[in-house]
Order: sequence, then structure tokens, then C-alpha cells
Amino acid sequence: MVLVCLVVFLSYCVLHGLGHNPISYMCGNCSDPTTCDPQDGRCTGGCKIGYMGLSCDELCSNCAGNGSCSQIKGVCHNGCRTGFRGDICILECHNCAGSGACDIESGACLEGCTNGHWGDECTFMCGACSGNGSCDRHSGRCHSGCLLGHKFYDCHGTCSTCVNTTCNQGDGHCMHGCYPGHYGLDCEKACMHCRADNPECDRTTGACLFGCKSGLVNPFCEEESIHTDESIHFNIAVFYISLLFIIAVLGAFVICNYKHTSKSPPLLGSKSALGLHSSQSFRESAHSITFF
Ligand SMILES: *[C@@H]1O[C@H](CO)[C@@H](O)[C@H](O)[C@H]1NC(C)=O
Ligand SMILES: *[C@@H]1O[C@H](CO)[C@@H](O)[C@H](O)[C@H]1NC(C)=O
Ligand SMILES: *[C@@H]1O[C@H](CO)[C@@H](O)[C@H](O)[C@H]1NC(C)=O
Ligand SMILES: *[C@@H]1O[C@H](CO)[C@@H](O)[C@H](O)[C@H]1NC(C)=O
Repeated sequence: MVLVCLVVFLSYCVLHGLGHNPISYMCGNCSDPTTCDPQDGRCTGGCKIGYMGLSCDELCSNCAGNGSCSQIKGVCHNGCRTGFRGDICILECHNCAGSGACDIESGACLEGCTNGHWGDECTFMCGACSGNGSCDRHSGRCHSGCLLGHKFYDCHGTCSTCVNTTCNQGDGHCMHGCYPGHYGLDCEKACMHCRADNPECDRTTGACLFGCKSGLVNPFCEEESIHTDESIHFNIAVFYISLLFIIAVLGAFVICNYKHTSKSPPLLGSKSALGLHSSQSFRESAHSITFF
């Protein structure tokens, strides 16, 4: 009889628990299953450690200590696990040296940057630093100078246009001159419009050493050459036509003047005659030109 009762009771429990009461399943992450709302499965008494959400069906992210977080917002009670940051510890610390820890709010690395990075949050890359590749945390200045071919304090500049890529790391000036096609102390400027097969130009002025691309003229190969064959012919034609016209006008002028001076006595060369008659004779000669 007792056995029958026990079996019936147990079957009731199993059926009730698994089949007719799904709430017991949904409330599994509540801190205390008896505080689970039977209508909607909300955990009214909080979640088990490491869970969050109204029904405690989400995990706390990257919380330190015992891993607990607030039920609704998920704010970690003991801060973030090393290497994570932010209110809910879903942001990562980047490139932090040592334990990899960073300030939970600002993200500033607490124990410096891993080699090759700098900045408060170690988000900047060091340039081409020699040695172990490290640079100053606050300025980015390389600790042991630059690798060959790089320049300036942070070694981000390149000497790529210097002969043998050798330049002064401080001022950036090329030490063995420029590769053809470049000029300036740092060889950072391009020689403009020099002939393609030999583009070398003066290191200081940029004047092409071996001439310009066709169609351009010295010294800086900037102006278009106007002395092409066609324009020469055109200019010659214009010149001769103008010359003929001037000769014709002068001829007319001389002939008219000659007529006048033959009427009145010859005074050509006399200053007073020129002064007195010039305006009159000019008007008359202009008049006679219109008859031509
Ligand atoms: C407990 O939370 C986990 C993580 O979100 C979830 O996968 C699981 O379904 C939850 N369990 C219950 C019984 O709510
Ligand atoms: C988890 O840590 C928090 C903050 O230190 C504390 O208030 C809480 O009691 C701890 N929970 C457990 C179960 O240890
Ligand atoms: C790298 O080299 C610099 C300068 O030589 C030194 O100060 C620094 O401690 C070195 N860093 C590592 C990780 O070896
Ligand atoms: C440039 O490098 C080559 C090969 O390494 C070397 O033969 C030459 O002498 C160097 N030129 C200068 C100007 O340093």
C-alpha cells in the first residue's frame, strides 16, 4: 500500500514536473526557484551567480571575482576579468603589456604597452624601430633608432627616394643623393617633365639635366614649345603679309608727300615746314590713302 502510494506520488511529481509545469524548467537559473513567477518565468529573487536577465537566461560577460553581475543591466559586481573593460565588460583591452589589464573606464593599459605599440590605450603602432621594436609610450619615439631606410624620431618616414635608402634619421636628408627622378634635400620632390628615359634633375633647382619630354622647353620643362613646323610656317606667312602691307602704306605716304612738296617749294628736312604742314599734309595724305 505504501509502495503504491509512493509510485503514484512519484509519477505525479514526474508528470507534473516535466509535462504540466514547464515553469520549473524555465526557472532553472533563478537564485531561488521558488521566487520564479509562474506566469512569465521571471526570477523575482535574482539569478544564480553568473546569470542575468529577467528570466536569468543570459550569462554575465567577463566578470571578475565570483562572476556575478546585476540582473537587469549586467554590470559586474567585482569589475572585469583581466583584459576586459567597460560597464558590462564586453570591451577588450588592446596591446596591454604585463597582465594585459587596462583601466575599466578609459581603457588605458595599466602596465605599459606590448612591444610595437604606444599611446595611453596602446592603440598606435610604433614605426620601423630597430632593436626590439619598442618606442616611447607617450611620444612614439623609437628607443633604439630606426631600421635602415626609415627616418624621423618615430621612424614612420621612409628614405625610399634616397640612393641606397640611406638618410639622416634626424633631419631626413638623403646622404648619397637622390634616385633619378627625385630632387630636394630629402629627395621628396619629383623631377617634373624630364625626358622619360633619363629623368635626372638638379638636386637643388629641379632643372632637368638631360632635357625635357618632347614638346616642352627648358629650363624647367614647363612651357609648351611653340616652334612646331606648322606654327613656323604660319608665322612666316603673317610676317610677309604684314611687311607687304607696311610697304604699301609707306609707298602711298611717300607718293602723296612728293605731290604736295612738288606743288609748294621743297622744304623737306626743314623743321618749320614739317611743323607747319605736317598736320595738314597728314590729313591730305590720309585722304589720298582712302583713294588707293
Ligand atoms: C540559463 O542560462 C543559459 C545561458 O543563457 C541558458 O542557455 C539556459 O537556457 C538557461 N536555463 C534556464 C533553465 O533558463
Ligand atoms: C559575489 O561578489 C559580490 C561582490 O563582492 C558579493 O556581494 C556577493 O555576495 C558574492 N556572491 C557570492 C555568492 O559569493
Ligand atoms: C626594448 O628595448 C628598450 C631599449 O633598448 C628597452 O628599454 C626595453 O625594456 C626593451 N623592451 C623589451 C620588451 O625587451
Ligand atoms: C649603395 O649600395 C651598393 C650595394 O649595396 C654599394 O655597392 C654602393 O657602393 C652603395 N652606394 C653608396 C653611394 O653608398
